Amino acid sequence: MKIRPFASRNALLFGGTAAWGLLLVSCVTVNRTLLMPPSVPGATFVGAKDCAQCHEDLTRSFGSATHAKLMTPGDTRREMGCEACHGPGSVHSKAGGGADNILNPARNPDTCYQCHTDKRGEFALPHTHPAGHVTCTDCHDPHRGDAILGGGTRMAATNETCLKCHEAQRGPYVFEHEALRDHCTACHNPHGSVNAKLLKARNATLCLQCHFQQQTATGLFIGGRDHSSYLVQRGTCWSAGCHEAVHGSHVSSSLRF
Ligand code: HEC
Ligand code: HEC
Ligand code: HEC
Ligand code: HEC
Ligand code: HEC
Ligand code: HEC
Ligand code: HEC
Repeated sequence: MKIRPFASRNALLFGGTAAWGLLLVSCVTVNRTLLMPPSVPGATFVGAKDCAQCHEDLTRSFGSATHAKLMTPGDTRREMGCEACHGPGSVHSKAGGGADNILNPARNPDTCYQCHTDKRGEFALPHTHPAGHVTCTDCHDPHRGDAILGGGTRMAATNETCLKCHEAQRGPYVFEHEALRDHCTACHNPHGSVNAKLLKARNATLCLQCHFQQQTATGLFIGGRDHSSYLVQRGTCWSAGCHEAVHGSHVSSSLRF
C-alpha cells in the first residue's frame, strides 16, 4: 500500500475535520492552534493504548514527551498520542506490524511540517543541514522528554546535540569564546538560513547582538577598542585576519588563529 501523508491541503483539511474535528493544543502560548493529523488510507485512529501492546518501551516514556500534550478540542478532548505523527494505526495494528501501513517521519519529515509549517520554509532556505543526512530526530527526540534534546535550560547539554557531529567545535580552547556557553544557536539557525554556514546574520550584526558598540567623537568602540577603520576595510568581524577563531582560540584571547 502506498501512503500519502496528506494528499493536498484541502483534502487534508476536509478529511481531518471529518475524522477528528479541529485539533487544539493544550498550551495557549503556542500560536499553532489548528493542526491536522496525518492520514493513512483505509485506517482509523485506535489510540496509544493499542500501540502499547507491541511498543511498550516507547509508550511507557511517552507521557513526558512534548507531543504527548497534544489534544483534540471540545468536550470529547482526547490525547492524539502516537498517531499525531504516525497516522491512524488500525491497519498496522491488525496486521501485527509492518512498515508500509504506518507513517514514519524518519523517512519523510512531511508529517512534522504539517504542524510545523515554518520549518518547511526554513529547510528550503539556501543554507541548511543536508537533507537525508541530518533528520529532525538527530536533534529532536519525539518519544520522551523535551523534544529539544538536552532541552530547555540545560544549554551545555543542548550543545552536545551539535557536538556529537561537529567535534571540531568542541574545544577545549585555551581562550574560549564565552558566547558558546550560551548556545550554538546564539549564532546559527540549525534549520536553515539565507546566510552561509547557517549564520543568523552575515555581518557584524551577528556579533553586536552581545558586544556593545559605542560611537564617540574619537571613533567606533567595540570591546574598548576603536574599530572604525576595521569594520569598513576588512569586512566581517571573523574574516580577513580578525577574530577568525570564533569558536575559541589556542593562541590569542582576541580569538585569532
Ligand atoms: C512527534 C512525533 C512522534 C510521535 C508523537 C510519536 N512518534 Fe514514533 N517516531 C517518530 C519519529 C520521527 C520516528 C523515527 C525515529 C528515528 O529516526 O530514530 C519514530 C519512530 C517510531 C518507531 C520505530 C522505532 C525505531 O526505533 O525505528 C516506532 C515503533 C514508533 N515510533 C512508535 C511510536 C509510538 C508507540 C508512539 C506513541 C507512544 C509514538 N511513536 C509517538 C515520531 C513520533
Ligand atoms: C500487534 C502488534 C503491533 C501493534 C498493536 C502496533 N505495532 Fe507498530 N510495529 C509492530 C511490529 C512487529 C513492527 C516492526 C516492523 C515490521 O513489521 O516491519 C512495527 C513497526 C512500527 C513502526 C516502524 C515502521 C517502519 O517504518 O519501519 C512504527 C512507526 C510503528 N510500528 C508505530 C505503531 C503505532 C503508532 C501503533 C499504534 C497505533 C502501532 N505501531 C501498533 C507491531 C505492532
Ligand atoms: C499534530 C501536530 C504536530 C506534529 C505532527 C508534530 N508536532 Fe512538534 N509540536 C506540535 C505542537 C503543538 C508543539 C508545541 C507544544 C507545546 O509547546 O506545548 C510542538 C512542539 C515541538 C517542538 C518544540 C519543543 C519545545 O520544547 O519547545 C519540537 C522540537 C517539535 N515539536 C518537533 C517535531 C518533530 C521533529 C516532528 C515530527 C517528527 C513534530 N514535531 C511533529 C505539534 C506537532
Ligand atoms: C541540526 C539540529 C536540528 C535539526 C536537524 C532540526 N532541528 Fe529543530 N531545533 C534545533 C534546536 C537546537 C532548536 C532550539 C532552537 C533554539 O533554542 O533557538 C530547535 C527548535 C525546534 C522547534 C521549536 C522552536 C522553533 O523554532 O519553533 C521546532 C518546532 C523544531 N525545531 C522542529 C524541527 C523539525 C520539524 C525538524 C525536521 C524537519 C527539525 N526541527 C530539525 C535543532 C535542530
Ligand atoms: C547528525 C549529525 C549532525 C548534527 C547533530 C548537527 N550537524 Fe551540523 N552538519 C552536519 C553535516 C553532515 C553538515 C554538512 C557538512 C558539510 O557540508 O561540511 C553540517 C553542517 C553544519 C554547518 C554549516 C557548515 C558549512 O560549512 O556550511 C553548521 C554551521 C552546523 N552544521 C551547525 C550545527 C549546529 C549548530 C548543530 C546543533 C544544533 C548541528 N550542526 C547538529 C551534521 C550534523
Ligand atoms: C559567536 C557566534 C558563534 C557561535 C556561538 C557558534 N558559532 Fe559556529 N560559526 C560562527 C561563524 C561566524 C562561522 C563562520 C566562520 C567562517 O566562515 O570562517 C561559524 C562556522 C561554523 C561551522 C562551519 C565550519 C567552519 O569552520 O567554517 C560549524 C560546523 C559550526 N560553526 C558549528 C558550531 C557549533 C557546533 C557551535 C556550538 C558548539 C557553534 N558553531 C557556535 C559563529 C558561531
Ligand atoms: C551570545 C553572545 C555573544 C555573541 C553572539 C558573540 N560574543 Fe564574543 N564574547 C561574548 C562573551 C560573553 C565574551 C567574554 C566577555 C568579554 O570579553 O566581553 C566574548 C568575548 C569575545 C572576544 C574576546 C574579547 C577579549 O579580548 O577578551 C572576542 C574577540 C569576541 N568575543 C568576538 C566575537 C565575534 C567576532 C563575534 C561574532 C562572530 C562574537 N564575539 C559574538 C559573547 C558573545
